[in-house]
Formats: sequence, structure tokens, C-alpha cells
Amino acid sequence: MRHDELYFKKAAPEISDAAYDALKREERALEKILSPGVSSADQAAAGSGLGDDRTGAFPTREHREPMLSLEKAYTEAELRAFLTGVQRVLGRDDGVWVVEPKFDGLAISVTYEGGRLVHAVTRGDGQRGDDVTANVLTIDSVPRALPAGCPDVVEIRGEVYMDYAEFARINAERDEAGEEPFAHPRNLAAGTLKQKDPGEVAQRKLSAVFYGLGAWQGSPPVPETQQALHGLIRAWGLPGIVRTVVAANAEDVWAAVEGFGRERAALPFPTDGVVVKIDSRIAQLRLGASDEAPRWAVAYKYPPQRVTTRLTAITLQVGRSGVVTPVAELEPVAIGGTSISRATLHNADEIARRDLRIGDVVYVEKAGEIIPAITGVDLSRRAPDSVAFTFPKNCPSCETTLVRADGEAAERCPNGRCPAQVRRRIEHFASSSGVGINGLGPVLIGKLVNAGKVADVADLYRLKRADGVSANVLAEIERSRRAELGRFIFGLGLPGIGSKGAAELATRYGSLSALAQSEGLDAESRALIAELVALGVDPQLAAGRATGPLFGKTVVLTGTLPKWTRAEATRRIVAAGGRVAGDVSRKTDLVVAGAGAGAKRAEASSLGVEVIDEAELARRLEERD
Ligand code: IVH
Repeated sequence: MRHDELYFKKAAPEISDAAYDALKREERALEKILSPGVSSADQAAAGSGLGDDRTGAFPTREHREPMLSLEKAYTEAELRAFLTGVQRVLGRDDGVWVVEPKFDGLAISVTYEGGRLVHAVTRGDGQRGDDVTANVLTIDSVPRALPAGCPDVVEIRGEVYMDYAEFARINAERDEAGEEPFAHPRNLAAGTLKQKDPGEVAQRKLSAVFYGLGAWQGSPPVPETQQALHGLIRAWGLPGIVRTVVAANAEDVWAAVEGFGRERAALPFPTDGVVVKIDSRIAQLRLGASDEAPRWAVAYKYPPQRVTTRLTAITLQVGRSGVVTPVAELEPVAIGGTSISRATLHNADEIARRDLRIGDVVYVEKAGEIIPAITGVDLSRRAPDSVAFTFPKNCPSCETTLVRADGEAAERCPNGRCPAQVRRRIEHFASSSGVGINGLGPVLIGKLVNAGKVADVADLYRLKRADGVSANVLAEIERSRRAELGRFIFGLGLPGIGSKGAAELATRYGSLSALAQSEGLDAESRALIAELVALGVDPQLAAGRATGPLFGKTVVLTGTLPKWTRAEATRRIVAAGGRVAGDVSRKTDLVVAGAGAGAKRAEASSLGVEVIDEAELARRLEERD
């Protein structure tokens, strides 16, 4: 189903987790009815069971032991039925259970061979996953090696996730840059881990936690209980689960589930439930597993936090590029400890699809517990005289007729001089992601734009005290004339140029006056830049920003290196400021070739890219920059 693809591969679901789970349950029930003879293995292969997170962007690797999912329970009754069933198989009623938080991230399997981390692989389809070793190595808490006395081979299972503080930091940055916030830390964690460039991954702080085992070869023997496993994971220096509750019977399990439920909102990391596991490994082995999930564990998912409130209005927000976003204005309502009075509605189609009407009583859910979303309408409470919402035809700021490009969902205001757009552009330029002008906030910007004093960034450099701007702010604006060039270019918000693109333009052109000559820019952008140059604005290329002997270098590894695993070499290159790419292209600076190197080495020679061996790489890594 389409939502599987969005959930697993693109890490960008369009529906809430609860809605997704409900759809999955319905799909499975239907499958049972429609094809009773089909084994669940076939169903899993058909994509209905475990899903598949592989993106096609990474080499894949087979797990030594399959990575299973968990049975889910959504109600107290379902959970108790599971516990009773297990006790029946075990033939006693005093089994020991371990209750743990269910981290909401992306499942990962990390393999240590001879105590050294050799692979980190996502679940994939349960059999084979994406090899994301270089990316996982950017997570500081994941040790490269285990202490002496660990087994010869061990697959440790866990979760890569993003804590709320980092999620909030990234969204605050996006907000300042006028970009849509990410909806959920899980999607952001998954999207980050699936970046091709480990350097990109390292810029966002991912976390990891480990709680399970796959393969285990050699001594010591496998820990006898889940509790002992948690202890061992932590003793090996891996991040483990700190808080678990041991329960002796169903009553205690339920009390623990409720206890975690109360604590959940205060935890610094995202959880979507608890996992209840039988403690004894012998009992686990006796119970075994189905094709999809072990029979000795269950995930209890907390019901979504959902409230109802009234939709009082739908307003439009105009972004700096003219994109118009409808916003639901709500009667304030408390959900999960915060009060909510607005929710984004994404675009006109979404309003039409849901037939949202002003005055409706709507359901508001905290999607993934973070950003409120309207998930439905209580039709039984709809006023008989309510009318369908007609999306405005004109910009709320400048009245220009809105346009919609073919194939696009968004309506846009095409008037580049639209005051709302101008305000947004200046806010972006002055924000800390742009040049950072202290004291030039939305209120002052609004006044200056409305008074006709500022219609673009260049006008900032014409402002005087007489325009109602304080000496301090004028001094700040003066200072920004020599701001860092990359930030300045980013701040201009040129079409299609994000922070990375801006940094690249800065290094390529070195100055605003050189950039003004660029043929690649549209006429309007060129004119604005030329005007800034004429006003004496001269942002500077940052000096000494390069760090590490391989700063800015793209390196490709090929063949087997004598000393380092690929993961180790990658880690060192990234630490030296370089990035590791998979394929050789004109953009490659260096190819490091080991034994058995073939096509990539040949490609490098034909493109004139330098090829070196491990010893030479080691020497260059030592160089001072
Ligand atoms: S045990 C053999 N414990 O939830 C089953 N899983 O929805 C091993 N998860 O696949 C899983 N926290 O990715 C386990 N404390 C925890 C967990 C946990 C999060 C994830 C894991 C699993 C998924 C099932």
C-alpha cells in the first residue's frame, strides 16, 4: 500500500501513526479473509507484513539472523490476552516479564566481529537491509570496539532515534529559514540515517539504544535473561535501556504499562509504547517465533492523544517565495500538556478532500506526539447550514490572483512585491540563519515594509535614523555589509538555493561582485545582487573555516584495504573533514584503492582522479591543515 512506501522508504508518512496502524490491521484482516491459504511468509514477501525500509541508495547486506518485528496490542484486553496465551504455553503462571520503553526510531543491527564494529544494517525486509555503517559511525555513543571477552561474532539489535532536544533545535533552525518544520523525530531520524553522505548525517545528532540480540557465536554463552542482556549491553559500553520494570504477573505488567504511560510525556526521547518481554531466555526459546515476530514479546501501543475542538477560521499564510499555506484557527484546547490554537492544513486539496468547514467540530491529534494535526471531522455535530470551504482566489496580503503551477499542490502569490512576501524575505535575511541582524525583528520589519521604506534587501542599506530605526539596529545593518558570504547568499533566498547551495556559490565565486556576473542566476536575482554591490555591500568569504586535512574533499573507497575496514576508513576520512562517496565521478577528489579494486580504479584513471593506497591515506590524514 502507498502508506507503506511513505512510512518505510520515504520516512515521510502523510497519515498519523495510529491511522497507519489501523490501516495495517484492516489490511491483514482482509488478507486472511481473501487468501486463507497464503502463508504469512508469502504475505511478508508481498510487502504486507514487515514492510521494507531499503531505499536502493545503499549496498544491502544480509542479516545473520532475521530481524523480526513485534506483535502489537492496542488495548488492555489485547495485552492481557497475549500474556495469558504465553503463560498457557509455558504451563505456569509465575513467568517473569520485563517491561521496557518502545523507542520510536529506526531499527538497526550492529555486528561486531572479533570485537570490532564491522557493519550496521537497517532492518530492510527483515532478511537484508541497507548497509549504513558509515552513517552509524557518526553516532558518538556507538563504540567501534567491544571490550575483551566478548563473543567472536555478535549482532546487537537496537534503534537509531533522535531526541526531542535535537529535533527542536533543527526545527527552530528551519523555522527561522522559513522552511516547513519536520513533523516527527522518527521520520527525521530515518531520513537522516538514510543520507548518502556521512558528513550530512554528522550534522544532526542521532542517538542509539540497544536492547536485543541477533546472531551470537563463541563464548561467553548468551545471557540467560533479558535483564542480564541489558546489563551486558551497558557493560560493553553500548547505550542500553536504563529504565526497565520487572513484573511477576499480568497485574504488575499492566501497572508498569500505566506507569510508563504517565512518565512518557516527560521522557527526553520519543516513545510510542512499551515492549513487554518474557525475561528467561529458555522460555523465549521454547516459545519461538512466527515468520514476523517472536512469540515471547509484545509491543503495547498507547492510544493517540486526541481531542475535539471547533474550527473557527481558515487563514492563509504567505511564505517568502509566495507559497500560500492554509492554517486552521482553532478554539484553544489542551492536548498532551500544551494548548493548541492552530494547525497547518498543508494545501487546498487537503481541505477539499476532508471537506473541512468553518464551524466544524474537528478531531485534533498530536501526530507522533509533536505537531498537532486535524485528523477528522465529527460529522454528527456539523451545523445543518454549514457550507463547503472555498479557497480564496486572491492573496490575503496584496489581493493578487493566486496561481497554481501544473502538477503542484500549492497555490502561490505571483507578485514578487507582495508585502507579506517581502516581510518574510527580510525576516529570513535578518534571521540567524541569514546574516543575523539583531533588533531587526518581525514587528520592525512589518512597519518598514508597510511604510514603503523597504521593498527588498538592498533597501536595508539605505535606511536612516529618520526612517524610525535605532542607532543600534543601523549599526547592526552596517556590520552585515561584511557578513559571511555563504550566509549572505543564503539570506537572499535565491530561488532553489538552500544553505548548502549558498555555501557552494560562496566558495566558487568568492565575492558578491563575482556572483553578480553569474549566468546561472535569473535576471531579478542578478539585478538585486548588482544593486547591493553598488551600495558597497561586500560580504566576506570565511577564512579559516576549513578544518581537517581532507576538508571539502570527496573520497571514494574501493577494494579491500590492508588494515582498515571500510567503516574505519570512512570514520577517519569524515573526522578529517572529508566525505565518502560511493561512485567515482568528476566531483571525486581522491580514490583510495585496496586489493581487488577494479572498475572504480579504472574509472578514476580515465577521469584523471588521483588514486592512492591506504598507507598514503594514513599519511595524509596525519597532515596538518
Ligand atoms: S525488541 C525480536 N525492544 O519496535 C524483536 N523492540 O514495532 C526485537 N523497538 O522491531 C524487538 N523499542 O525496532 C524491542 N525496547 C524495545 C524496542 C523495540 C523499540 C522497535 C524495534 C522493533 C519495533 C517493533
